[in-house]
Amino acid sequence: MNELVVATRNQGKIAELKRLLVEHAPNLQLRSVAEFDLADVEETGVTFEENALLKATTIATLTGLPALADDSGIAIDALNGAPGVFSARWAGKHGDDAANIEKVLFELQDVPVEGRGAQFVCVIALALPDHRSLTVRGELQGVVRFKPEGEFGFGYDPIFQPDGFSITTAQMTPEQKDEISHRGKALREIAPKIQPFIGL
Ligand code: IMP
Repeated sequence: MNELVVATRNQGKIAELKRLLVEHAPNLQLRSVAEFDLADVEETGVTFEENALLKATTIATLTGLPALADDSGIAIDALNGAPGVFSARWAGKHGDDAANIEKVLFELQDVPVEGRGAQFVCVIALALPDHRSLTVRGELQGVVRFKPEGEFGFGYDPIFQPDGFSITTAQMTPEQKDEISHRGKALREIAPKIQPFIGL
């Protein structure tokens, strides 16, 4: 077993993972879920862990191969952790970044800077066809700005300022963001664990 199915159709994400894994698992062949004839797994969980595990275990079971999946989002303190697992569809339509940002800024309009704490969260799950699994979680603490700024990134990046910085994650280069991001942390944590877990 030296193949790993990655639950993304995005070749950029697969290339990123490949770069991170060369050092830890040089013989592992990464395959996109797009190579298999599978329907998208519905994200019905209420936690990032549940959704990442749901995707990874479903794909591992259906393909008979180890599978890696992630779930991510932003948890805002003043909204009791919302949008959380609903981050991509907070304003209704899936992936409407501008509408999602507008909704969050409206909901936080009366919240002063000291109450605008938030975390970006990324959970990555690795599952085997026999249902064994493991998860890792990466977080990035910060505050929600009052106005969007920056052109890089995606999602809530234009309104998220990480603690210790005076710019948003949308004003960072992709490399700068990777070094501190929730996703970068989770990927660097899981990278050395994949090969031993799969049993290669
Ligand atoms: P997923 O594809 O279900 O993991 O949804 C992730 C959603 O969370 C994205 O659509 C964004 O709205 C938000 N999100 C996750 N990570 C980031 C990030 O690094 N920057 C900005 N928004 C993010």
